[in-house]
Amino acid sequence: MTTRPAAASGTTHADVAVIGAGIVGLAAAWRLSQRGLRVALVDPSPAAAATHAAAGMLAPVSEVRYGETALLRLGMASLARYPDLVAELEASTGVVVGLRREGTLIVATDAGDRDLLNELQAFQTSLGLSATLLTSHECRGLEPMLAPEIRCGLLAASDHSVDNRRLAAALLAAISATDVDLVSATVASVTTHGDRAIGVTLAGGGQITAATTVLAAGPWCATLPGIPDDARPPVRPVKGEILRLRTRPNTALPGHSIRGFVNGHEIYLVPRADGELVVGATVEDAGFDTSVRAGAVREMLRDARAVMPSIDELELVEAIAALRPGSPDNAPMIGPTGLDGLLVATGHHRNGILLAAITADLVADLVSGESVDRELLEAVSPQRFALTRTSS
Ligand code: GLY
Repeated sequence: MTTRPAAASGTTHADVAVIGAGIVGLAAAWRLSQRGLRVALVDPSPAAAATHAAAGMLAPVSEVRYGETALLRLGMASLARYPDLVAELEASTGVVVGLRREGTLIVATDAGDRDLLNELQAFQTSLGLSATLLTSHECRGLEPMLAPEIRCGLLAASDHSVDNRRLAAALLAAISATDVDLVSATVASVTTHGDRAIGVTLAGGGQITAATTVLAAGPWCATLPGIPDDARPPVRPVKGEILRLRTRPNTALPGHSIRGFVNGHEIYLVPRADGELVVGATVEDAGFDTSVRAGAVREMLRDARAVMPSIDELELVEAIAALRPGSPDNAPMIGPTGLDGLLVATGHHRNGILLAAITADLVADLVSGESVDRELLEAVSPQRFALTRTSS
């Protein structure tokens, strides 16, 4: 890998220009380079924003929602790729990524929450997913720190987690062993020539020309200049505030990831092997605002405490907000747009870390012209939002 600042002027060439070095852009650039393609990956702050803030849940079973079965299939397919992805990254970089396979325990605190949990279990069962209903006693047998008020639980044994910050660091390290050109610059616009995307123009004036441009800039795909309206993915920022806590002397963390229904609110607690506990997250349409609201911190701590009272004794080390890229149906958009030469990989909403594995493979398959899983690709095609060019 070469890392370079933005060229003030001048033109460089690549086979593929990837805009955005969040988890999706990083993984895609790495996979593209493994296919022998020359990649320029452009981002002023790699591995930042939602990639940095995320909790790292790999939890398609516990997060399944009505009407989102295509997203579930994609999530399951991506989760299945994680063990090999992590093994490959750890072997090639020496960075321990922190994949945890203890499973996810979903718990309910009041009668209404118990109904929500029962509905979730019925829906999961109707989809052939495995999630085991547990009594309050069984939940506390698995996780003794749970509140005595917990009414019942559901164990999604196949839902895991990964340390997203370590994963991003591992991808950066893996990329550094390739010839990916990591360009530390802001993209001023997608460059077009006639009816084709031909690369990017950098703030400062430099150009990168490329046969294929991959738009992986999360919610900023909505505002990036140079994309014709009929090729622009309908992505919007979805704000999430999230906390990081840490063990102090004589404190401990749960072994499982815990999701809680608390008086109708949802909260999650994701433990790391190094003593960190990630607690989140809000889901708000608030434009590009990334301020942290005091009330959001209070509400998350309140709900986390209702699940596990001992969080009171942990150290609060971080409260941040970041922007998820939301799509109209909560599934990502991966594939060609209405503009020749422009591919999109965004809209991963609450599942960016989970879906990075399969997104990277799909992008690499598409760009390199190798066989593509048509069924998966159809479910995530940007064309489902009628991104078709009207001839001029
Ligand atoms: N994946 C959890 C979140 O976006 O909050």
